[in-house]
Amino acid sequence: MPKINCVGVITSGGDSPGMNAAIRAVTRAAIYSGLSVKAVYHGYRGLIEGEIKLFHTENVSNIIQRGGTIIKTARCPEFRTPEGRRKAYENMVKEQIDALVVIGGDGSLRGARAFAEDYNVPIVGIPGTIDNDLCGTDSTIGYSTALNTITDAVDKLRDTASSHERLFFVEVMGREAGFLALNGAIASGAEAAIIPEYVFEKDQLAEYIENGFRKTKNSSIVLVAESEVTGGAMGVAERVKKEYPSFNVRVTILGHIQRGGTPSAEDRILASRMGVAAVAALIDGQRNVMIGIDNDTIVQVPFSQAIKKNKPIDTGLVDALHMLSI
Ligand code: ADP
Ligand code: F6P
Repeated sequence: MPKINCVGVITSGGDSPGMNAAIRAVTRAAIYSGLSVKAVYHGYRGLIEGEIKLFHTENVSNIIQRGGTIIKTARCPEFRTPEGRRKAYENMVKEQIDALVVIGGDGSLRGARAFAEDYNVPIVGIPGTIDNDLCGTDSTIGYSTALNTITDAVDKLRDTASSHERLFFVEVMGREAGFLALNGAIASGAEAAIIPEYVFEKDQLAEYIENGFRKTKNSSIVLVAESEVTGGAMGVAERVKKEYPSFNVRVTILGHIQRGGTPSAEDRILASRMGVAAVAALIDGQRNVMIGIDNDTIVQVPFSQAIKKNKPIDTGLVDALHMLSI
């Protein structure tokens, strides 16, 4: 196994709050362990185009509290092609980068896996996405902060919902996963969540309206996960207008405010632990694994498992929301 002297660090795909804390942890843990660190700017695009810079400890000073990613991120269609990955590998060799830490969501880890398969490059992933849709980890970096942002927004919307006695559909992100919608609903005391995981099992809108709305309350907030199958908040509201025209409906789409802002303490700690663990894993000869957290213990999850579709939703949470919204 060739010795690792220099580690490259990349953020890729959608940014998430806490990515900077992860960059800081990777940089400092690597330097502490006698390795050099090179930051690759703009995700895989920067690897292909050679946007690479040597990092020292001071490059990551004063960033733990900042949202976004100081080394930028991008979506890079060229990296999906063998030719794009060949250019990326040539730059790695030129820059004498021996291994990579990739911080990103499932797409970024798919890319990491393809790259490692092509060129036998040691890569360790860190789950950085607000969606919490990577398997084998209880949480991803940014998820806790995004939940706090959603909760804060719904608290504000409730004032209007209650004053005007309206039914609000609030769309949250998640890219085909319902974690933000379900836990956002529990945290904000919303009346229901419409999530893609249950779309084919039951008619969540009909169940909610027929079982409960306005039995005890004159206003209501329903979180809807963005997704083709839920139809998003606009789709659900259109349905209500047609099928239940007596309701006074409003729609709010929270959008990218969910991705920004100061990372929560939980995300900073998670990112710091994962960054340290990623460097330790590489030094230990591990590769093709994502660092995860399982029951407050750091774990290594093979890429093939981490990127599996349809991370299961805890059905107990669905029941709890149902129970608590009477
Ligand atoms: P996220 O990591 O947030 O899920 P994306 O799905 O957009 O974001 O993926 C980020 C980047 O990862 C893509 O723009 C592309 O460069 C790379 N990528 C995604 N899937 C693959 C794949 N199957 N093969 C190679 N690269 C990929
Ligand atoms: O994966 C993170 C995420 O924010 C998803 O929740 C959302 O569907 C997507 O990225 C939005 O991506 P973009 O930055 O291209 O608008």
